[in-house]
This record gives sequence, C-alpha cells and structure tokens, in this order.
Amino acid sequence: MKILVLNGSPKKDKSDTMHITRAFLDGMNEAEPQEVHTIHVIDKHIAYCTGCFSCMRNGGECIHDDDMRDILNEILDSDLLIWSFPLYCYGMPTPLKALLDRTLPLSSMAMRKVGERYEHVEQADFSHLQYLMICGCGFPNSKHNFEPATAQFKLCFPGNHTIITVPESPMFNAPEAAIVTEPRLTLVRQAGKQYAKTGGIDAALLAEIGSPMIPEEQYAAIVNAGV
Ligand SMILES: Cc1cc2nc3c(=O)[nH]c(=O)nc-3n(C[C@H](O)[C@H](O)[C@H](O)COP(=O)(O)O)c2cc1C
Repeated sequence: MKILVLNGSPKKDKSDTMHITRAFLDGMNEAEPQEVHTIHVIDKHIAYCTGCFSCMRNGGECIHDDDMRDILNEILDSDLLIWSFPLYCYGMPTPLKALLDRTLPLSSMAMRKVGERYEHVEQADFSHLQYLMICGCGFPNSKHNFEPATAQFKLCFPGNHTIITVPESPMFNAPEAAIVTEPRLTLVRQAGKQYAKTGGIDAALLAEIGSPMIPEEQYAAIVNAGV
C-alpha cells in the first residue's frame, strides 16, 4: 500500500504525535511491507487559499504555483493518507490547515446532496483513498478535547476514515514515562496490524488507545509541578 503521511507537527520528527504514527506504521509493516513517504508540512511552501474558486471552475488550476502542485499529485497517487497532527486550539495546526484548504482543486463548484448534507462533486478521482487521522494533545481529557477536530475530519472525509486520538501525548517524548507509553505504543502497533489486514480497527481497541495513560489528575499534577 502506498501511504502518504502528512506530518502537521512543526516539531517534525521530534513530534510527540509521530511516536504514535510511527508505531502504527510499524504495525502495518508487520502485517505486510508498506511504501511510506512522510511530508513535514512545515517545510513546504503552501500559500494560503485566497478563496477565488478559480480551481473549482471548469477543471481550473490553483492560482498559486508552489509545493501544493506536487503534494496534490502525491495525494492522488496514494492509497492511504495519514493526517498526523497535534491538537492546536482544538483543531489542526495552521500549516496543515493551509494544506487541507488547498485540496479544493480536487472538487468542482457543483454540489450534490448526500444523505442530509451537501458535498462538492469531485473533479479528480480520489475514490480509492483511505483516510486516517492520528492526533495527540497536551490535555489529559479525551472527552470534549478532540471533538472539533474529529468532527471536521469526518465531514471532510466522509468515507473510508479512521480516527486515533491520544491525550497526554507529551509523555511520548519523556523517557521516564516509558512504563506507560510503551504499552500504549504496543496497542497502537496492534491497531496498525489490524488496519493493514482488515481496513479497520476494533472499537474497543480504539477506545483503549484513546484513554488517558495515567489518571487525569496525576498528569495535571505532574505538569503543574513543572511550571
Ligand atoms: C499553539 C498550541 C495550541 C495547543 N492547543 C491545544 C489544545 O487545544 N488542546 C490540547 O490538549 N493541547 C493543545 N496543545 C498542546 C499540544 O497538542 C501538545 O503539546 C502535543 O503533544 C504536541 O504534539 P507534537 O509534539 O506532535 O507537536 C497546544 C499546543 C500549542 C503549541
């Protein structure tokens, strides 16, 4: 499977969230060898969408000539897109959001009703794509915290999506927390293996992965002791 990882953390390889993503990919690779390319989005020149809609009219092109041209081609050439990002203000970091906005050329202005909502009609064929969101965050609560980001992801990618969220993720970069992060990464590897074999992850396993690694109050006390 061709996998494109869009790493939205400005910390690039040092990202807390990328520990989760790498474990997931290890699990996928255990099931069968995968072809993986990671883009550190912060390194790319991606201008902000100006909202002119030229790209969505009559198979038009984006007015910007920047790295997004190659990225769009690479997206279409992939089987699985992994959006790996830390939660920033309950959403995705700005550089990754700029990339998401710039996927507009894949759709046309025309809209159609699907169930209770409207979607744009595609201009490119991306029906083969699967989407995975992997999101870490700094607060200990998994309830409420991820809701805006997961809602956005589900609306943007209504079909073929899977979502992994993990609270307390700065612990992945703390060697002294290995006693709790290692077992969590083992579960993530298990999820990766399952996903490669079946295209999905058990709800119970996802819930376990998304739960706090240590009690919320204990995590908050450790953070507060260090400030
Ligand atoms: C600008 C900014 C906004 C943030 N907003 C949130 C937030 O809304 N909720 C949260 O739990 N953590 C928030 N955090 C904390 C990060 O999600 C957390 O540090 C995460 O582990 C960073 O992951 P990374 O190393 O993959 O970039 C924020 C951090 C920054 C820098």
